[in-house]
Amino acid sequence: MLDLKIDHPVFTLDNKVILPAGASLSESMEAVMQDLGGGPLEAYAMLKHGTVLDDLLHLLTEPPYSVIFGHRKETVDLLKFMESIHIITPVLESLDYFRERDFYTYRHILMVFSLSTLLAHELVRDYGELIREAATGPMHDFGKICVPLEVLKKSEPLTRRERSLLEHHSLAGYVLLCYYLGDKQSLSGRVARDHHERKDGSGYPRGINLDDLMVEIVAASDIYDALISPRPYRPTPYENRAALEEITAMAERGELGWAVIQVLVAFNRKDKPYYKDCEVSTERRGTPPSDNIYGRIKQDERE
Ligand SMILES: [Fe+2]
Ligand SMILES: [Fe+2]
Repeated sequence: MLDLKIDHPVFTLDNKVILPAGASLSESMEAVMQDLGGGPLEAYAMLKHGTVLDDLLHLLTEPPYSVIFGHRKETVDLLKFMESIHIITPVLESLDYFRERDFYTYRHILMVFSLSTLLAHELVRDYGELIREAATGPMHDFGKICVPLEVLKKSEPLTRRERSLLEHHSLAGYVLLCYYLGDKQSLSGRVARDHHERKDGSGYPRGINLDDLMVEIVAASDIYDALISPRPYRPTPYENRAALEEITAMAERGELGWAVIQVLVAFNRKDKPYYKDCEVSTERRGTPPSDNIYGRIKQDERE
């Protein structure tokens, strides 16, 4: 069972505090779930919400997604499946919030949704049921509504406090989903909580050895999308080759499993080999961008 303290408050989009800073998760979760966010919530098709479908179709035309989703028939089937995914209202409202105030996060949520659906389709036998239950992509960064926008969008190295606020999003998302779903075991809640964990225990918030394939699929999609996108802290994105090499190196270090990497590499090839037949090169030929300050702590705060 979790025995973690919440370092920062968890609150809803309309500023209702669900847990104050310092609350112990194991002691507070029963009360959080009994509150149930005002009762069972309505859920609506995510792709029919606002401009989501148009935005998604546009984003899928940009490289490298244009190659990854370049198989027309499969992509049409995948989109049909994604159209059947329903999301609870507070998460849909968070999409509106990010679209207006932090477009990068909005875009990232749509792409992680698409990519994790594609990966799960290849790797998980009952993926349909699991994705429907989890709606993993759209929910994974829900907790970012509890992170100040100036931290999400900051282009200089973060201070320690800012980094802790940013990392707060995983537990905050878990608490919010427990609150809205009334269930502390839900797959979407676990994905929100654990998508920054790694197989070798080097992640956060708990440093556990990640061993849930659905969570790992979201983790890999999350990392890949972050690498190939311009970020506030790294205006130049990784070239696709360097991004694939970076994520391959994570498998070499034991942070991620090889299967998720093989699927990513296979879908980046025009001929789309079956992922198990796809050999992943561990040779490093790409050049990471030079202006990357990810993970750097502000100078005067280093020990
Ligand atoms: Fe995240
Ligand atoms: Fe993310």
